[in-house]
Amino acid sequence: MRPSGAGRRVLSRATSVACAALLGLAMASACGKPRELSAADRGAVIYRTNCISCHNADPNLPGPIGPAIADAPRALLDARVLHGTYPPGYTPLRKTHTMRALPWLDGHVDDLAAYLASVNTHHPGT
Ligand code: HEC
Repeated sequence: MRPSGAGRRVLSRATSVACAALLGLAMASACGKPRELSAADRGAVIYRTNCISCHNADPNLPGPIGPAIADAPRALLDARVLHGTYPPGYTPLRKTHTMRALPWLDGHVDDLAAYLASVNTHHPGT
């Protein structure tokens, strides 16, 4: 049986698919495993995209509008970010109510807390 044109095309397509797969493998191994983002990494992205219009890019410092919040514990973030409130008994840094609740961040507060704790240079609670 003489090799038909169609047969050759199929073969060459199969070869190029195999090459693409190999190339993909080579690239994957060259770059190592895709880096897993930690909770703090994800929190940093959330912070930069949602908070630094008011808070400082360095959460240890006061921002243009909002106070330093590097040591904000999980319960405070939950209350303030999701509900616009404070945990029972908490004395707010400021008496103003400029910051609105950001309820769409539900599910990201753990990451935010991990990020803020990771960059905190203060002693918690001071
Ligand atoms: C529109 C500006 C604005 C944005 C955006 C904003 N904040 Fe605030 N934030 C403030 C201001 C101003 C205060 C001080 C209280 C007030 O006036 O609401 C505050 C207070 C806080 C407090 C309470 C601090 C304390 O101990 O009393 C926390 C925690 C906080 N912000 C976290 C965040 C986080 C996390 C984000 C992003 C997800 C964020 N804020 C986004 C302006 C903002």
